[in-house]
Amino acid sequence: MSVKLPIYFDHAATTPCDPRVVEAMLPYFTEKFGNPGSRNHSFGWESEEGVSLARRQCADLIGADDKEIIFTSGSTEANNLAIKGAAEMYQKAPAGSTGRGHIITVNIEHKAVLDPCKRLEKVGFDVTYLEPERDGLVTAKMVEDAIRDDTILVTIMWANNEIGTINEIPEIGKLCHDRGVVFHTDATQWVGKMPTDVKKDNIDLLSFSGHKMYGPKGVGALYVRRRKPRIRLVAQVEGGGQERGYRSGTLNVTGIVGLGKAAELCKQEMDTERERLLAMRRRLETRLTERLDHVVVNGHADKRLAHITNISFGFIEGESLMMAVKDISVSSGSACTSASLEPSYVLKGIGIGDDLAHSSLRMSLGRFTTDEEVDFAIDKISEAVVKLRELSPLYDMHKEGIDITKIQWQAH
Ligand SMILES: Cc1ncc(COP(=O)(O)O)c(C=O)c1O
Repeated sequence: MSVKLPIYFDHAATTPCDPRVVEAMLPYFTEKFGNPGSRNHSFGWESEEGVSLARRQCADLIGADDKEIIFTSGSTEANNLAIKGAAEMYQKAPAGSTGRGHIITVNIEHKAVLDPCKRLEKVGFDVTYLEPERDGLVTAKMVEDAIRDDTILVTIMWANNEIGTINEIPEIGKLCHDRGVVFHTDATQWVGKMPTDVKKDNIDLLSFSGHKMYGPKGVGALYVRRRKPRIRLVAQVEGGGQERGYRSGTLNVTGIVGLGKAAELCKQEMDTERERLLAMRRRLETRLTERLDHVVVNGHADKRLAHITNISFGFIEGESLMMAVKDISVSSGSACTSASLEPSYVLKGIGIGDDLAHSSLRMSLGRFTTDEEVDFAIDKISEAVVKLRELSPLYDMHKEGIDITKIQWQAH
């Protein structure tokens, strides 16, 4: 079977909408266009029915009750509402003073968690940024050691978006509940891929997003626990009082219907999909490590999502490799910030040196990835690495036995 180019291996960045999701959404753009807030006519009722079904489908996916789902514009907004909303609600001292409360997070969280935490630091909250080891794993023990009497909130992602590592979320949830601390998890990369039970796992607040699970962009949700304990938040977007007052604004009905359908499909298909993706990811990692030397798979060996792999190819610039395999859409371990190419803060955060961080690629597979695409990628990437190394003076020096980490480079 021939492979259709370009190949998409960047599902951690975003996923295509499943055609079944698009089909479910379509009537809500045209015939069923009512505002669900219109309580006095059939257009409103019909659109409210679509929203109710989606709420049910989302709640079902994560083991929640319908009333615990607050629709947002995505995970960024859900994280902001959870973190700022909980901090303001559970603060220990009034706004404007110092010592308003202690928050625990991790230095390799997504910016949609780190930036709200930084904002809270500026207004009197104290934030601890845990630093995982080289495997990227956040354990309950790390959180336990950091919890203080004034800790009000712990926010830790379920799975990392760059390395796919899965944290000890149920254990951290239990610890937080035992200590009476609110627990939020950014589950953007997790939900829809792995079974989730917010009740059993003691989660108070959980964010997820449509476009990471074959739904549309610009829609997501925050789960807010209503019992044992009942969690309350200070709203961050105020207005018409939609979504139990937590998130005002006319609902994005088409997006919400799509998110609901995507949730339903993920629930039905995630187990078979995960098995398939895991086999493909393993083949990708094994073949590349067999064919090439100086290849390192980053993140925890087993506690990792099935579809994400982050690989460093020694003596190669990730950006050059990306250019050399233009037909395969991947992400590199460098982020373009201003004029310079900074190595990823996630890879640096787990102690990977600048050289290996610069030489890394993140590949993330998805629902429509085929075996042929994986085999094509293995061939193309191995060929490109061999070619680039032939041109690499560093690789030559290494082969001559020179330890390149000890070289004193002269700046002119
Ligand atoms: C872990 C994580 N959190 C948050 C986000 C932001 O999600 P959204 O695009 O829905 O705002 C992303 C997306 O890149 C992510 O991977």
